[in-house]
Amino acid sequence: MAASMWWRGFEAVGRRRFSCSHRNWAKIVPAVDGGEEADLTEKTTAKTFSAMQAERHEQAERTILISCPSNISEKKFYKYLSSYGTINKYFFYEGFGIYAVVEFSDKESIGTLKGFSSIPSLQHECAVPFKSRLFNLRNSHPRELSAARPSVSCLKQSVIPLNELIRKLSGAESIDEQLYTVCKEYQITEENTRLRFLVCSLVKDIAAAYFPECSIRPFGSSVNNFGKMGCDLDMFLDLDSISGRNNTKTGGAFSMEYGTKRVASERVATQSTLSVIGECIDQFAPGCTGIQKILNARCPLVKFSHQPSGLQCDLTANNRIAMRSTELLYIYSNIDPRVRALVFGVRCWARSQGITSNIPGSWITNFSLTMMVLFLLQKRNPPIIPTLDQLRDLAEAEDKHVIESHDCTFVLNNKIKPSQNTETLEELLQEFFEFYGNFAFNQMSINIRKGKEQHKPEASPLYIQNPFEQALNVSKNVNQTQLEKFVTSARESAWILQQEGLKRPMSNTKPWGLAALLLPTMQSPGGKSKKKRQPASERIKSLLDSLKANKETAGYLNRSNGGRRHICTVAW
Ligand code: GTP
Ligand code: MG
Repeated sequence: MAASMWWRGFEAVGRRRFSCSHRNWAKIVPAVDGGEEADLTEKTTAKTFSAMQAERHEQAERTILISCPSNISEKKFYKYLSSYGTINKYFFYEGFGIYAVVEFSDKESIGTLKGFSSIPSLQHECAVPFKSRLFNLRNSHPRELSAARPSVSCLKQSVIPLNELIRKLSGAESIDEQLYTVCKEYQITEENTRLRFLVCSLVKDIAAAYFPECSIRPFGSSVNNFGKMGCDLDMFLDLDSISGRNNTKTGGAFSMEYGTKRVASERVATQSTLSVIGECIDQFAPGCTGIQKILNARCPLVKFSHQPSGLQCDLTANNRIAMRSTELLYIYSNIDPRVRALVFGVRCWARSQGITSNIPGSWITNFSLTMMVLFLLQKRNPPIIPTLDQLRDLAEAEDKHVIESHDCTFVLNNKIKPSQNTETLEELLQEFFEFYGNFAFNQMSINIRKGKEQHKPEASPLYIQNPFEQALNVSKNVNQTQLEKFVTSARESAWILQQEGLKRPMSNTKPWGLAALLLPTMQSPGGKSKKKRQPASERIKSLLDSLKANKETAGYLNRSNGGRRHICTVAW
């Protein structure tokens, strides 16, 4: 893609957050406090998922990662690297040392740089001579440079600590502002997105030794707009584009096929491909450690840690449905700004309550929580987002997408009309807790394809139908205890949000609203307080029910007053 086209694309996404200066190059700088920042409530016309992926991928191919000396001088750094080619963007961050991400305007510059770089000669060890795009920058004149003060500012690649977030939220004017603040503070930054695509591109260099035309693309929360800084990097090794099934010359006397090894199934082919690439990552990829091949999982994968970026990586192959789910979530996230804000708020709440965890287990995953939020938004009157069946019905012939006989068709985001629903995020958060605090999980399933609950086809405690593989439950891992913990927390939170004492106080230091729900005292670590919480939950449910009855008879909810609820406080 031409550089000028790429640049226009970048402007559309990031123009408010970065300052550009200095002839034809730009250092990426974060938006400063009080400066102009992207308005998260603004309706943006987002790029299509595939256009976004293609641009980022191409950008990553022109980018390198450099481990820098701690006393690096930015001026000298820039001057030195510019001698290899024009630099488009660069930024520094701190991990195990200082790293720089440098994007050249041409891929050829990396070739030139490689030509002038050497494999290190080590004293007690030996270097594996794989020439990757992870470089070490050495001071040629250490003495001269050590006198110089470090002059680089590093961008943060980690998430704001919970106590700091609570402090920020306590100063907000409304629960809506609190939810947008969580989203703004937790979302993956522009630079972190670049780093994620760069790591995929570095791993692709390894896989390309066997499959030169392959691509490695991020999926999941790294790119679906619901990712939090620090979330894992889900990678998809795409070998589909190399099949060449459409390449056959027609009309001649013959057609040619590659001679290939044959294996019993696609799953076996995926397992052996991932096994070999996992081995190569282990042996050759600098910075990749802790490689684990989990090839017998339903979706075989290779797990590893990419130390220079600090990212935990999951490499899968032949996982096109997950890629399509990612695109679907991306589309939903762009329909209305309330979608992202509510998903971030609910994920953050669930984490602080100990309902979810990064470690796989019998708890509700972030993906399932996202589906629950989407389902609630489909059920509002009028709905805030369409059902998946409606998205499919809006699709044109060119949007048709079938994967392994599953219909994965939906319309692209730029063809979806905005909703007429005007509910506030405060109302929606309250509805989330009330809706799921009372949901008939024992009988019904959640189905974002239909936007309606349906009878469960089997007895899993929580049943969230997989939107594409419709016979599957995305929350099959969740056990009864974890579901009860979720329901209990939802009821308690519904109740707490209604307490007058937790409405916005005069002083902006006391945690209120969402901040009150995230307080450590609200946590339920390891189900320790389970026995005590269960009766409280039942009591809260009946209190909420009685409030609901009052609401129906006495017009309890005054939505004309900016959505603020007026209730009598019941002590408990
Ligand atoms: P976090 O990593 O927790 O931030 O969220 P995530 O959305 O990336 O979830 P995860 O890493 O667990 O999974 C990555 C992606 O795989 C998800 O976004 C989905 O697209 C897909 N996925 C995860 N679990 C399931 C599942 O049970 N069924 C299906 N169909 N897809 C899933
Ligand atoms: Mg993930």
